[in-house]
Amino acid sequence: MKEAVINKAIAMRSRAHAPFSNYRVGAAVETQSGEIIGGCNVESSSYGLTCCAERVALFRAVAAGHTSFRSMAIATHNSGMPCGACRQVIWELCSDIPIHICNEQECVKTISSKDLLPDAFDKSKLL
Ligand code: THU
Repeated sequence: MKEAVINKAIAMRSRAHAPFSNYRVGAAVETQSGEIIGGCNVESSSYGLTCCAERVALFRAVAAGHTSFRSMAIATHNSGMPCGACRQVIWELCSDIPIHICNEQECVKTISSKDLLPDAFDKSKLL
């Protein structure tokens, strides 16, 4: 349900490893089976190796055997939107799902992953 994925994303901010930017991001994905799996951003001193919270959450979910997803939530102190790389990964792994954008307390808006990446490039172009 909506509250569970939102609350998990907000809670996951406390796990962020962000010593370089201090920008703490929490994310959570709701699987088709109803599990909620969280992620946080993990930064590297070799900055390009940093992994965003959204991708950590999704990759954890995939590694745990999940293949289908119902919703996601992302939490930052200023209700930031997902970066372009994460929009691509969300679209490819989740197709069209609601994405709840949150601050430290609550969901401030919900947008569909399709609207986050119009005219997406994906496997349908490779067939
Ligand atoms: N970050 C995310 O975790 N998700 C996004 O969609 C945007 C950026 C992280 C990466 C880095 O650790 C910090 O935020 C600043 O860019």
